[in-house]
Amino acid sequence: MNGQTTMGLAAAVRPCRQRLLTSASAAAAKASVIRLFPRCPHPQHHHHGRRLPFLVSAASHTSQSDPSTTPTPTPVTSDPRSAVAGNLPFFDRVLFPGSFPPETPPVEDPAPPADFRPASASPVREETETEREAWRLLRRAVVSYCGEPVGTVAAEDPECTEMLNYDQVFIRDFVPSALAFLMRGETEIVRNFLLHTLQLQSWEKTVDCYSPGQGLMPASFKIRTVPLDENNEAFEEILDPDFGESAIGRVAPVDSGLWWIILLRAYCKITGDYSLQERVDVQTGIKLILSLCLSDGFDMFPTLLVTDGSCMIDRRMGIHGHPLEIQALFYSALRCSREMIVMNEGSKHLLRAINNRLSALSFHIREYYWVDMNKINEIYRYKTEEYSHDATNKFNIYPEQIPSWLVDWIPEKGGYLIGNLQPAHMDFRFFSLGNLWAISSSLTTPTQAEGILSLIEEKWDDLVANMPVKICYPAMEYDEWRIITGSDPKNTPWSYHNGGSWPTLLWQFTLACIKMGRPELARRAIAVAEEKLSADKWPEYYDTRSGRFIGKQSRSYQTWTIAGFLTSKMLLENPELASILTCDEDLELLEGCACCLSKRTRCSRRAAKSDIIG
Ligand code: GLC
Repeated sequence: MNGQTTMGLAAAVRPCRQRLLTSASAAAAKASVIRLFPRCPHPQHHHHGRRLPFLVSAASHTSQSDPSTTPTPTPVTSDPRSAVAGNLPFFDRVLFPGSFPPETPPVEDPAPPADFRPASASPVREETETEREAWRLLRRAVVSYCGEPVGTVAAEDPECTEMLNYDQVFIRDFVPSALAFLMRGETEIVRNFLLHTLQLQSWEKTVDCYSPGQGLMPASFKIRTVPLDENNEAFEEILDPDFGESAIGRVAPVDSGLWWIILLRAYCKITGDYSLQERVDVQTGIKLILSLCLSDGFDMFPTLLVTDGSCMIDRRMGIHGHPLEIQALFYSALRCSREMIVMNEGSKHLLRAINNRLSALSFHIREYYWVDMNKINEIYRYKTEEYSHDATNKFNIYPEQIPSWLVDWIPEKGGYLIGNLQPAHMDFRFFSLGNLWAISSSLTTPTQAEGILSLIEEKWDDLVANMPVKICYPAMEYDEWRIITGSDPKNTPWSYHNGGSWPTLLWQFTLACIKMGRPELARRAIAVAEEKLSADKWPEYYDTRSGRFIGKQSRSYQTWTIAGFLTSKMLLENPELASILTCDEDLELLEGCACCLSKRTRCSRRAAKSDIIG
């Protein structure tokens, strides 16, 4: 991954370079360097035969905005909370096949106030010592490229000599950092991150002679400093992305592009800088991600089909197929894109496709992933092998699949979305991120969202206990662990991804609680975390059934643990800011259904509609 092109791996990309000179030559060369090497990005620069076909051709066809301009600090409104009061009016309307309006009202671009100055969601109280420490550590994790902040490393553990890939900027890990910075009014780092990762998306990449889709966003990137010549007198910085080619199992990070879209919308809403989302390169970036997600395949389900390890759980954990986490992020990214895509002749088909998918996806998840006491009882009595359109047991689930732990665990009140649904297979494990993000994005019905929080409250000792929040419940043990994880020593029962507790998930929990008007639940969880995190050196994860021990192989000073804590506190203090991330229930989506267009297709939606509106 250091610029060597081999049969196996593609080379580092160079959208920007900057010379770093030794002290002897620095003074003399300084002026000419500035002229010779323009500030980032520098998309015309080809390296190892890589190209930027989409950005270059898009740029040559439009005058809307110039993708090769330097990312500049953005004006923000003096109070970020004021920018998020209302939703974008137009794209929140749902459009279905044949109902597209001929004219598009332009998206309003609120002008930044004249007396602009960076603002923060000012705390109404003094920061605690733990918060002050967290801010110091978060700033220490910031990475600069060409002299500008562009992200935060995954962990900055001074005692750890083996960095593995924790010295990289992970897209998913940066999200809570970005939110903390945004809410404090420090928006430049987020803008730079969004624009630089956009550059990385468009470069050609190959793994063993195979080129994955162009919309793919890297899992992470790293800034490398490499000598420009043999004398080691001048150096350049290069951005070096990892698209999964050096990840365990060579898995593509499906969630990266989805998080990028979600973060872009949050940035634009909080800063009021909607011109960023309208830029032609940004629009192209959104469309590239969507074209990967919406492309036709052999799928019979509206859910995204992915391999194991393609999201936060990036090792084999038996989540291949249609894992909830990806579906919740997918739904959220579609909702965000619908708000951001500029409506014109060229985009109307895409918007139509987005609406159709949103409609089908929400129906599918609400109807088939939801379990509660009644549903488990229904599954328990399922008939099997039903060959008909009207089958109750559509996926041919054998009731014997209901795991014994669930029989006693499912509370009388509340419920949750299962981890995965496949033919003849329901993964009944509770996955926190998927369930929490389904609440925040309104993938669930409001009743289901309340039900999930009520289940978490009821099962507090299993899902929060000594450290919020358990990544999934329960852990796989014995043969199941051996077969499903491939005897992964990192994912032993109640450790790491297999039932470990991840403090970063606190911010997603807080967000969901705020959305549902249950901030007291979040406050309770934050109090549990706040008591330990600093003393425990901000671990990546905790082990054991009740999250009592610091994870066996846990990093210290894990950035998204630190940022997740800060973001949770800031959200709780400024709950109105939650709307930069959440979406409201869209009842019209439930009305629209592509099946209505075809007389031949039968859809169970009508029968189920009363249930799913809930
Ligand atoms: C682990 C996590 C992954 C995270 C990475 C960096 O691999 O599973 O979600 O992005 O560490 O923190």
